Amino acid sequence: MPGIVIVGAQWGDEGKGKIVDLLAERADAVVRFQGGNNAGHTIVREGVEWKFHLIPSGILYAGKRCIIGNGVVIDPKVLIGEIHALRARRVDVSGLKVSANAHVIMPYHLLLDQAGEARLGKLQIGTTRRGIGPAYSDKAARLGIRIQDLLDEKILKKKITAALEPNRLALRPYALDPSLDLHAMTEQYVSYGRQLSEYIADTSRLVWDSLEQDRLVLFEGAQGAMLDIDHGTYPFVTSSNPIAGAACVGAGVGPRDIDEIWGVCKAYATRVGAGPFPTELTDEVGERIRETGGEYGTTTGRPRRTGWLDLVALRYAARLNTLSALAITKLDVLTGLDQLMVCTRYLGAEGAVFEDFPYHQSVLHHATGEYTELEPWSEEIGECRSEEDLPQAARDYLSYIADFIGVPVALIGVGPGREQTIWTPAGADTLVGRAASLASS
Ligand code: IMP
Repeated sequence: MPGIVIVGAQWGDEGKGKIVDLLAERADAVVRFQGGNNAGHTIVREGVEWKFHLIPSGILYAGKRCIIGNGVVIDPKVLIGEIHALRARRVDVSGLKVSANAHVIMPYHLLLDQAGEARLGKLQIGTTRRGIGPAYSDKAARLGIRIQDLLDEKILKKKITAALEPNRLALRPYALDPSLDLHAMTEQYVSYGRQLSEYIADTSRLVWDSLEQDRLVLFEGAQGAMLDIDHGTYPFVTSSNPIAGAACVGAGVGPRDIDEIWGVCKAYATRVGAGPFPTELTDEVGERIRETGGEYGTTTGRPRRTGWLDLVALRYAARLNTLSALAITKLDVLTGLDQLMVCTRYLGAEGAVFEDFPYHQSVLHHATGEYTELEPWSEEIGECRSEEDLPQAARDYLSYIADFIGVPVALIGVGPGREQTIWTPAGADTLVGRAASLASS
């Protein structure tokens, strides 16, 4: 019963969508297990662009079972919008299933997210303002509205009333906001429930069924390890756990159901929003990476902060996730740089040196990278389809990363297209790689 988890190994936006899209072809089901529509990814298929925020990109395979698990927080308006957009482009969405236990983002969560950020002033987290944090807060406070509640108007109204009460003060400035009218809100969300009812299911059971029948299940993480609420750069993090351990909780399976864990990372580093970023480049090299890599948020359009690959953070992510394989994306973006660096240690105040990711917030805030210079390459690599096709310097770059992290590189992205991917021998030897070769033989 192969279960494969795919997670972001940096600060999100690593290109997980593209990797999931590639692997989904061989999977029976794709399950999202945390986050919400703060995530976003763009898939290019035969020159056509697709953008997703909630629905796993596996949906592009007709009838593929795509599950939004209990650990996700769902803005039903966004979900319904995505369903309509896919249908309008004649995509078969019959495989979509939404957990009845997933929590719902309500209009007051959006307002509270904005108000919270405004109150923090200079200390802003730089959230996506999609109401993610307040929805998870209500979940923990046992005041959340779940997808199943949208199917019962009476219960829904009671629960909204209970949830609004503790937030009365914070919401006072929005008292006249029509989106907060109890009756209108209940009616609106009951209508969402009606539109979603055909997709609502006991998704934990569905996942178990697939695994039980020995079918491949992909667990798709959103964001990345460094944005994990427990292990990331708190408080500059998201409000869920994007690491592999959360796949079990957020999909409703046990740890023994997971067989492989793939970490996706870019060949360099990016971050959106505030918070420490020890390898940040604020010079023209950083600007060049941003432009070449198209580093602007899919969800908010914000320019992403860019930097050299941070191997200290990546090794930490590999440990937190017990990564079994690395997928390195956007290697082509580094082509033509005059200088190529990777961060191998952090330097702190008073000459302190950190081989490992520091647990203390103040240390991390002052840490800067110590770098190892590697050989750059200038050859275009977008047409390379095997490791041997890559320039020696690019191959050395990949080997350096794999050796430092202690995790083999399984897949390499050399451009935005689906076909612009290289499977390494180590990748071919994974569960997915073996399934792929079986499928093609
Ligand atoms: P929130 O998840 O909207 O609460 O935002 C919290 C932090 O996580 C902010 O720094 C966001 O920029 C960041 N974040 C949330 N989702 C993503 C993502 O999908 N990619 C990158 N950063 C994200």
